[in-house]
Amino acid sequence: MNVQNMHSADATTAEEGLAIQAEQAKFDSKAATETAMQNTLLTPRFYTTDFDELDAIDVSPVRDDWDRLIAQMVSDPNKGHFKKNEDWDRIDWDGMEPQLRKEFIDFLISSCTAEFSGCVLYKEMKRRGTNKDVTQLFQLMARDEARHAGFINDALREAGVAVNLGFLTQKKKYTYFRPKFIYYATYLSEKIGYARYITIYRHLEAHPEHRFHPIFKWFQEWCNDEFSHGEAFALLMKTDPKLTSGVNVLWIKFFLTAVFATMYVRDHQRPAFHKALGVDPDWYGQEVFAKTSALSKQIFPITLDIDSPRWSAGLKRLQKANADLDRARKQGGVAGFARRISAQVRAVTAFAGLYFIPAKKHRLPASTRLEPAY
Ligand SMILES: [Fe+2]
Ligand SMILES: [Fe+2]
Repeated sequence: MNVQNMHSADATTAEEGLAIQAEQAKFDSKAATETAMQNTLLTPRFYTTDFDELDAIDVSPVRDDWDRLIAQMVSDPNKGHFKKNEDWDRIDWDGMEPQLRKEFIDFLISSCTAEFSGCVLYKEMKRRGTNKDVTQLFQLMARDEARHAGFINDALREAGVAVNLGFLTQKKKYTYFRPKFIYYATYLSEKIGYARYITIYRHLEAHPEHRFHPIFKWFQEWCNDEFSHGEAFALLMKTDPKLTSGVNVLWIKFFLTAVFATMYVRDHQRPAFHKALGVDPDWYGQEVFAKTSALSKQIFPITLDIDSPRWSAGLKRLQKANADLDRARKQGGVAGFARRISAQVRAVTAFAGLYFIPAKKHRLPASTRLEPAY
């Protein structure tokens, strides 16, 4: 294939999309790749798992819903969507307010890494598996995530930076998660991704004067891809009722708390970005948590009590501890070290406080099937 004149939006497989990105990698920037290489509690990670266990899943119990979802993904409604067209307004990167520029680039790099993290994991599952149902699903999801990551990289390239995805694949550290943790974490990251993208999209639909970059115009179709990916993980979990009952409910609560809290802290590190969007990060957080909670009732028997006063107070404490931790790291020395320990203890306590807020229980529906309705 001649990838030189192709665009990752038109690629029909993850491999093809990545080959196109590799061709463009000569323009990629060292600093952006270094940012994407970081592994902290708050930065997107790469995952690996027990692929044989995943390969052994039998989707017969959910066959009807499964076939319908796969058929929809095979029909590929978003082929060709993720590329610049006449709707792509020119951006004056040099004229952008420096703090906004910094935070927005950070947002794009982090989003690109997260999209690519999905691509790497899904592609690996497709490569290692023999189960036709499972490998087909993972191939389709890898295709979508390669397009998403490629498109964000296109936007970054205009700012003179881009992430070297090939380098990341080779060099970024992989975190091992047991399959069930992959289900909880990935299901939630797909559904929260949908909720985040659609909330911004709807907000900018009502307030187009805040759309300071054209990429937001692509968020609607984008979030529909993430929605389907979440549906697929809900079906995978539905094949085994043990995954969503007994002691596993405590794990589900842990992942819900961790995913929500991480989003809250990360978003509060980008005040200029949210101000430019005309979005209050507290409002945005609650909106996204409410949507994600409503969706996750399709498969999780509990939701977090995000209306409890302890919830918002705990998030604020966690965010403050994290900001203090950041300052202490920069300060260094003995005083910095002492402040770092204190901030870490406060962060752990705040997280535990969030975790122990009693959850709300639900009865699970017979079918997980949902349509994107926001
Ligand atoms: Fe994606
Ligand atoms: Fe996704």
